[in-house]
Amino acid sequence: MKQAGIFITLEGVEGAGKSTAVASVAAFFSQRGLQVECSREPGGTPTAETIRHILLNPTAEALAEPAELMLLFAARAQHVAHRIKPALAAGKIMICDRFTDSSRAYQGAGRGMDRALIEILAKAAEQGLEPHLTLLLDLPVAAGLARAAARRGLTLRDRFEREPAEFFERIRAEFLQLAAQTPRIVIINAAKPLAEVQAQIHAVLQAKFPKIAARPLGEHHG
Ligand SMILES: Nc1ncnc2c1ncn2[C@@H]1O[C@H](COP(=O)(O)OP(=O)(O)OP(=O)(O)O)[C@@H](O)[C@H]1O
Ligand SMILES: [Mg+2]
Repeated sequence: MKQAGIFITLEGVEGAGKSTAVASVAAFFSQRGLQVECSREPGGTPTAETIRHILLNPTAEALAEPAELMLLFAARAQHVAHRIKPALAAGKIMICDRFTDSSRAYQGAGRGMDRALIEILAKAAEQGLEPHLTLLLDLPVAAGLARAAARRGLTLRDRFEREPAEFFERIRAEFLQLAAQTPRIVIINAAKPLAEVQAQIHAVLQAKFPKIAARPLGEHHG
């Protein structure tokens, strides 16, 4: 399937500001008259959202690590085939909260699973798809967990949020290493106040998509 649109992903540890950043990225494109679709992983299609529920909710039966890994990629395969690729084929800007880099960081570095297996599953799920740009929202682990906890209030922590701080330290380090070796990944200093984070995101989008940035701002819908 031809890929006419633009695929942008957001990555980072819990509470880094990914969901907040999705809105900033979406605004950049929609204000310039482009059609935007936002999604998240795991999830993004009805079946993938069902899998998300299994992945995030603590249950009596612990998830075996290979089961977690394969469920994540099963959800991603659904998302790519039935949502992301069709959106891109329709020329849309597809913005996704987490994608394969999260599996590299959480299951690879966090859980210590076989990197070669992760890449094989990624190849199968992605079917040649790759983000045009990935924004890595980076901040100290404690700050991210504090933000996530403040936002969550009294609701229960999900399966990942129950992990110890060391788990997230390994994940943060892996994200930074991935960014160092992958040109598509740009680091955003997410420890800054929201307005500064948004300014950094805007600067990256302007540099990466100068023609779109130059379009007049208008009252567009869609
Ligand atoms: N730069 C910032 N400074 C201070 N607070 C922020 C900033 N960015 C986001 N927040 C707040 O921190 C909380 C977490 O942000 P957000 O939900 O966007 O993070 P997330 O990376 O999507 O988290 P999760 O992984 O848990 O989904 C929210 O309450 C949000 O309003
Ligand atoms: Mg979020």
